[in-house]
Amino acid sequence: MSFPTVRSRRLRGSPALRRAVRETSLEPSDFIYPLFVCPGEGVRREISAMPDNYQLSIDQLIVEAKEAESLGIAGIILFGLPESKDPEGSGAYADDGIVQRAIRAVKSEVNDLLVIADTCLCEYTSHGHCGHVVDNDVDNDSTLELLAKAAVSQARAGADIIAPSDMMDGRVGTIREALDDHGFEKTPILSYAAKYASVFYGPFREAADSAPQFGDRRSYQMDPANQREAMREIALDVEEGADIIMVKPAMPYLDIVFRAKQEFDLPVAAYQVSGEYSMIVAAARNGWLDLERAMTESLTSIKRAGADLILTYFAKKMAKRL
Ligand code: PBG
Repeated sequence: MSFPTVRSRRLRGSPALRRAVRETSLEPSDFIYPLFVCPGEGVRREISAMPDNYQLSIDQLIVEAKEAESLGIAGIILFGLPESKDPEGSGAYADDGIVQRAIRAVKSEVNDLLVIADTCLCEYTSHGHCGHVVDNDVDNDSTLELLAKAAVSQARAGADIIAPSDMMDGRVGTIREALDDHGFEKTPILSYAAKYASVFYGPFREAADSAPQFGDRRSYQMDPANQREAMREIALDVEEGADIIMVKPAMPYLDIVFRAKQEFDLPVAAYQVSGEYSMIVAAARNGWLDLERAMTESLTSIKRAGADLILTYFAKKMAKRL
């Protein structure tokens, strides 16, 4: 059968028809909201390259967390701006570190919101790299130990999920073992399994004050040209015990999200990163794109490609629209 008997446009004729046959819909519980926590009180400092996103002191973070909870958002993921940095990134695994204190404070104020800890060193190291630097290179194996310490301290503070974002080899297995050894065998790991060395992290590095002071992250994050390698990275993390796998960034890597969903039977998360957010907001501010529609279409595309969870700076704005 074909035209004129078949007319695809019949099912597009009204909002009610379109709604009835829509294949993908968004829910607030699809979203994870990234938040940046800093020292001080009453601090709410807007990030210039990410309008409507703030560096927040813990009291302000709690306000955001409560709002996210009331909107039905799945969870928040926390990034910390420590008081001081050192080459070993000790702020990442200090029991009274900024994120550890933030987790404790938020967990005592909300019940129905996942508090996810980003586990990485780059916000805490003076050189801004995601690991221990030896001879101008990030040393893989000595970094694992530091990441494991960070994960355990975050779990001890009450984090619901540990999310390693460093891209060291073997970190999921090392973190799993350390968590289990410390009685946190019930704490899931959301691994940034396929994380690319992307220019779209630019605005985040202002937000988290985590730009590398020399070189770049290409010796540990993935080459944007590679698809098969992503499947291999994900398979390794699954073998090591990842509970949820993440692809990052999202929209420029929808082929990876799609394949991850087809080939693995774990929940798939995708991170709509800072640069993806900033591009849309900047275009909207110039009057070149409609913000609400660009936001909705971008998130729908990510979900349609296969993401079960979407980390997005639009979480609150999108949830309010739904
Ligand atoms: C830390 C980390 C980064 C992001 C999330 N975790 C930065 C990076 O790898 O340079 C980026 C998030 C974003 O751009 O929104 N390793």
